[in-house]
Amino acid sequence: MRIIVVENYEEMSAKGAELFVEVMTAKKNCVIGLATGSTPIGLYNNLAKACAEGKVDFSEVTSVNLDEYYPLAPDNDQSYRYFMNKNLFDKVNIKKENTFVPDGTAKDPEAACKEYEQRIDALGGIDIQVLGIGRNGHIGFNEPDANGLFAETHLTALTENTIEANSRFFASADEVPKHALTMGIGSVFKARKIVIMANGADKADAIKKMVEGPISTMCPASLLCLHPDVTLICDKSAYSLVK
Ligand code: F6R
Repeated sequence: MRIIVVENYEEMSAKGAELFVEVMTAKKNCVIGLATGSTPIGLYNNLAKACAEGKVDFSEVTSVNLDEYYPLAPDNDQSYRYFMNKNLFDKVNIKKENTFVPDGTAKDPEAACKEYEQRIDALGGIDIQVLGIGRNGHIGFNEPDANGLFAETHLTALTENTIEANSRFFASADEVPKHALTMGIGSVFKARKIVIMANGADKADAIKKMVEGPISTMCPASLLCLHPDVTLICDKSAYSLVK
């Protein structure tokens, strides 16, 4: 794993954008893997700026997102589809029909997950995937689980920790959906290049466990140590507990 420690959120976002622009410049019709949450917003702002300045072109790009709450409609302002439209897709020249987010309204979530995984395969995998990390070490909605993790896109229950962390976006914790559709660890590993970003002291424990090991399903991000091309970009606070 390549580790880049930066001063702050702005530097982390700029570095992340640099890696995306590199891949997108080398391959016009690349597949980019995206995440939601607070972490990648700065990266998306940088990409939108680069696009406005003609430094990067999304016209042939396809995107796949990591996850979506279930059940939640795409026009709900807390849905991840809504987040992506607002923070990136509406600001760049990507074709909306080339943007994929798991379907939070699927009647048959298992079939929808299977279809989503097949889509990733049909696209030939992901060229570059950005990840955030949960305070408990989750990636996507792959929550710590002593009994093991799923490889493929699946329906999962959110942990209390994650519901509490995400309740800041909802009127109350009761309104946070209790389930999500998420790519599995194997789906994430289909990315040729992975960029994981973290900032702030509340991520320090998760980053320590991810970097120092042991590799364990109790810290899903630690499994990334097994992938051949992972770059961790984090600020000093998030890196502060690593020895
Ligand atoms: C979001 C996702 C989550 C977040 C993680 C960190 O699509 O998959 O794993 O990356 O919960 O969230 P933030 O960035 O809000 O701290």
